[in-house]
Amino acid sequence: MAKTFIPLFLSLFVLLANIVPHLADNATLPTIFILGDSTADVGTNSFIPDSQARANFSPNGVDFPNGIPTGRFSNGFNSADQLAKLLGFKRSPSPYLFLLKQTSGHHKLLHRGVNFASGGSGLLYETGKNLSIVPLSDQIVQFTALRNNLTEVIGQASTEATLSKALFFISVGSNDIFEYFETNSTEAIENFIDSLMSAYTTHIEALYNLGARKFGIISVAKVGCCPANRLAYKNMTGKEGCFEAMNNVALAFQSALNTLLYNISSQLPEMKYSLGYAYNMTNDVINHPHDFKFHNVDTACCGRGILRAQGPCNATAELCPDRRKYLFWDLYHPTQKASRLAAETLFFGPPIYVSPINFSQLVNEN
Ligand SMILES: *[C@@H]1O[C@H](CO)[C@@H](O)[C@H](O)[C@H]1NC(C)=O
Ligand SMILES: *[C@@H]1O[C@H](CO)[C@@H](O)[C@H](O)[C@H]1NC(C)=O
Ligand SMILES: *[C@@H]1O[C@H](CO)[C@@H](O)[C@H](O)[C@H]1NC(C)=O
Ligand SMILES: *[C@@H]1O[C@H](CO)[C@@H](O)[C@H](O)[C@H]1NC(C)=O
Ligand SMILES: *[C@@H]1O[C@H](CO)[C@@H](O)[C@H](O)[C@H]1NC(C)=O
Ligand SMILES: *[C@@H]1O[C@H](CO)[C@@H](O)[C@H](O)[C@H]1NC(C)=O
Ligand SMILES: *[C@@H]1O[C@H](CO)[C@@H](O)[C@H](O)[C@H]1NC(C)=O
Ligand SMILES: *[C@@H]1O[C@H](CO)[C@@H](O)[C@H](O)[C@H]1NC(C)=O
Ligand SMILES: *[C@@H]1O[C@H](CO)[C@@H](O)[C@H](O)[C@H]1NC(C)=O
Repeated sequence: MAKTFIPLFLSLFVLLANIVPHLADNATLPTIFILGDSTADVGTNSFIPDSQARANFSPNGVDFPNGIPTGRFSNGFNSADQLAKLLGFKRSPSPYLFLLKQTSGHHKLLHRGVNFASGGSGLLYETGKNLSIVPLSDQIVQFTALRNNLTEVIGQASTEATLSKALFFISVGSNDIFEYFETNSTEAIENFIDSLMSAYTTHIEALYNLGARKFGIISVAKVGCCPANRLAYKNMTGKEGCFEAMNNVALAFQSALNTLLYNISSQLPEMKYSLGYAYNMTNDVINHPHDFKFHNVDTACCGRGILRAQGPCNATAELCPDRRKYLFWDLYHPTQKASRLAAETLFFGPPIYVSPINFSQLVNEN
């Protein structure tokens, strides 16, 4: 009995001890917990055998260290990595589902946080369900399990102190909006946005009740302009351009989220947040690509056919010549370069892009 119990306990301790921030090593590095969809997924879905939303094959990862396709929907680092890098880490913390599989030998990989994000997921439980992904509410259930273990190992007070200083980065909402259009929903847009805000409120309150205090949130980008939706618009109307009806919903989402966070932060003592206006960031890049050194903001770098949006990014897809000049990696996702720009803007940007404070202020506040 004891023989098996002790190593089990020790490995759990080593595992969890490494999630606790090493404040003595570097007082500037906070713990980060990442939740959301494919914009922040660093391989979660690769651990779900029947998931239909995966990217763990080339040429994804072509610009990642050693060219490894890790499951990131990107040519290299995604926005979760870029944020972690700006905080002083090498990349995003590992996926929770990877962490669960580890024994003590791998604990060095588990420094300073966990990434729960799952490609295809949304705010609503039903979003992406057919793809076998981890819905946001289940990501929070996973976080709860981790928190309970942490409490067992380091105690209630240390857990609360750690979590209250941690950054909770959330990037979600696009997939809910995609499915609203894909399913030809007849629900009024106003009601749809209300249902998303109600879900967001539930998720934020759940995390808050588990000890989260610092929320770094990014709204939905101008998703009607991604290659997949430009092609959908072209198929519907015969015209070139962005799917503006979808952009209007993305903008309404951002505006409602702005109000929600303003309201909820006044009701939850000690809650602090930054909201990144992804719609406005992408709007400016798409309207003034050269100011941001992009040459192509409408076509996928990796894909097939019209706008390289008629096929997924896979081993037989076409690849653009210069990935640094493209806003989009595949038919939905930004390139590593675009993710870097987004993370820098969240971190250091002015109030037109991130408010009421930027991420660097959020992280450094006590
Ligand atoms: C610790 O923080 C400093 C900035 O204060 C940074 O230059 C350094 O790279 C960090 N160290 C590690 C190990 O990340
Ligand atoms: C999910 O699958 C069910 C049954 O196959 C189908 O009725 C439903 O429309 C699908 N949902 C979406 C969003 O594709
Ligand atoms: C929590 O601890 C139990 C054993 O007490 C272990 O089976 C489980 O995997 C741990 N969960 C996490 C999230 O670390
Ligand atoms: C939505 O409408 C389009 C165009 O009318 C149609 O082609 C498509 O099959 C519909 N999708 C669903 C899920 O009903
Ligand atoms: C648009 O039409 C093309 C064929 O012209 C098809 O390959 C593609 O899948 C369609 N895409 C969307 C998003 O409707
Ligand atoms: C924010 O609070 C105001 C005033 O209490 C209220 O009218 C509004 O409905 C709230 N909005 C949201 C999104 O919670
Ligand atoms: C890549 O996707 C295309 C569809 O555009 C498909 O026909 C092809 O078989 C896929 N290739 C691989 C290697 O999966
Ligand atoms: C972002 O926050 C930092 C504080 O960390 C502040 O010095 C800076 O002025 C802010 N950036 C902008 C553009 O407001
Ligand atoms: C974001 O863009 C929208 C639409 O152009 C605009 O109405 C809004 O004021 C902008 N938000 C900020 C914070 O600048």
